[in-house]
Amino acid sequence: MKVAPAAALVGHVQVPGDKSISHRAVMLGALAEGETRVRGFGRSDDTMSTVDAMRALGVQVDELGDDELLVHGVGLRGLTAARVDCGNAGTLIRLVSGVLAGQPGTFELTGDESLSRRPMERIAEPLRRMGALIETTEGHAPVRIEGSDSLQGIEYVLPVASAQVKSAILLAGLNADGATTVIEPAPSRDHTELMLAAGGVRVRRRPRSVTIEPPAALRFDGELLVPGDFSSAAPLVVAAALLPGSELTIHDVGVNPLRTGLLAVLERMGAHVSVFNRRRAGAELVADLEIRSTPLVATAIEAAEVPSLVDELPLVALAAAHARGTTLVTGAEELRVKESDRVEAVADALRSLGARVTARPDGWEIVGVPARLRGGTMRSVGDHRIAMLGAVAGLAAREPVEIGEPEAVAVSFPRFFELLDSVAKR
Ligand code: S3P
Repeated sequence: MKVAPAAALVGHVQVPGDKSISHRAVMLGALAEGETRVRGFGRSDDTMSTVDAMRALGVQVDELGDDELLVHGVGLRGLTAARVDCGNAGTLIRLVSGVLAGQPGTFELTGDESLSRRPMERIAEPLRRMGALIETTEGHAPVRIEGSDSLQGIEYVLPVASAQVKSAILLAGLNADGATTVIEPAPSRDHTELMLAAGGVRVRRRPRSVTIEPPAALRFDGELLVPGDFSSAAPLVVAAALLPGSELTIHDVGVNPLRTGLLAVLERMGAHVSVFNRRRAGAELVADLEIRSTPLVATAIEAAEVPSLVDELPLVALAAAHARGTTLVTGAEELRVKESDRVEAVADALRSLGARVTARPDGWEIVGVPARLRGGTMRSVGDHRIAMLGAVAGLAAREPVEIGEPEAVAVSFPRFFELLDSVAKR
């Protein structure tokens, strides 16, 4: 796939439903009483892995339209034993491990090559402390779970700020005896907490921790709403910020403050993003975003900010390559255990397009120049976020960018290239 330079991004667009929230809506709909309609579902390879997983576990999921599902809940302990293929989806394998720890039966969770390289002891260890029988394969998938009916609530201090690990523990806590508390080193996305509260669970929040009480049942009043995915809007936001003359509006985007760190960073770099039409969609906040291009300056990003933009850091590195001055990203070692080693993948990709990026153990040093990159060929290493990074780089480069394995975008945003093309003015 080749992406040619553009002069500007102009128009009005919408992005698919949030991937994190879509996974959770399907899983929690499955554990709820009765039917739950999931509206705004972000259909992608990853979220369909969750739909297929719930089906394998005995849940009926009807596809009412491209972005609408009807999940026939089986209750908090109604799933049936199965072998589940989690595909590329880290959120699925980690969250469903928590769900299955307290379900009767034997379960085996597998994943693709990339997922099978990702660390699983980070969820297995706390789940074992709750009394779960869970085995990883030398710390990785396949994961085997012997469901237990005697899980105990725990208080757990997360060693890494990870919403996936926090969520796995909270979901196991639904079927545990007593309260479950998770303490975080830095606040991570809270979609699980918000959705559990919407389902009637008693959730107590403090600045650095969350506690849930096991409920008798989950009930969603028939409906869960999924806002547009901020992480899918992010490539468009950054492209519009880089291309002078852009006038792009992205409608109905989830703006949960624990997800929108990119906006704070872009603002520090001098970009203009207006967030307007703020409103609620179920338990989440939604808004429209309008982006105008301005010259950018370098910034610094440290550990505390990382969870709020963890999936957008590759795009921050690209923006920094176009900004005047040296940007240092630190405290982002988690990027090394995402769908790919994103510290190396980003450094390799941007360097091959002419940027000055040095990989560090926990981030990058980027020497920015307020000019277009050269362009050329880059590898996505089969990682959706790196493929999208290549496309944004191509729009903002002097020469086209040839992206290796562009089909990876289907993991979160199947029609990404089409949408980008529809607003690119050349
Ligand atoms: C996610 C949490 C993040 C993020 C991932 C989705 C989630 O991972 O990178 O894309 O849905 O909870 P960690 O929580 O492991 O950092």
